Amino acid sequence: MSNNIVSQTTGEAKPRVRILGISGSSRKGSYNTALLEAAKELAPENVLIETYDISNLPLYNQDLETRMPPQVRELKSKVKQADAILFATPEHNYTITAVMKNAIEWGNRPPNDNSWDNKAGSHHERLVRSAGRS
Ligand SMILES: Cc1cc2nc3c(=O)[nH]c(=O)nc-3n(C[C@H](O)[C@H](O)[C@H](O)COP(=O)(O)O)c2cc1C
Repeated sequence: MSNNIVSQTTGEAKPRVRILGISGSSRKGSYNTALLEAAKELAPENVLIETYDISNLPLYNQDLETRMPPQVRELKSKVKQADAILFATPEHNYTITAVMKNAIEWGNRPPNDNSWDNKAGSHHERLVRSAGRS
């Protein structure tokens, strides 16, 4: 996909900002997932928001790092392609959800391939920030 988008109003070429939305809830009727869907609709024309479903990632296990599971490779590739990550997660037992923490764990690994490096991140739960720190 082109990195530029031509404005429909001004005809000007603007850089496209790619944001990956990640919901920390696997619930079908999740408010957090709905927030990301709303963000997609409300994004300005030069911002592309894509979401990635982390609910089917295997549980993090260091033994699997030598042969990363396909879903993990897909997540890491999506994160790398994005300019910024938009986290939306419920609070479960005073912290981020287990599925969100699991995705953060996988993204961090291996240490020489930390997918979250140099990414702008935004979230509505302050705890994502501390949990994502490696
Ligand atoms: C297992 C569990 C633990 C929860 N722990 C908290 C909590 O510690 N603090 C809080 O404010 N809400 C807590 N909640 C409420 C959820 O954060 C709330 O229902 C949230 O809206 C669910 O998000 P979702 O609609 O995206 O699934 C908990 C809910 C569940 C199911």
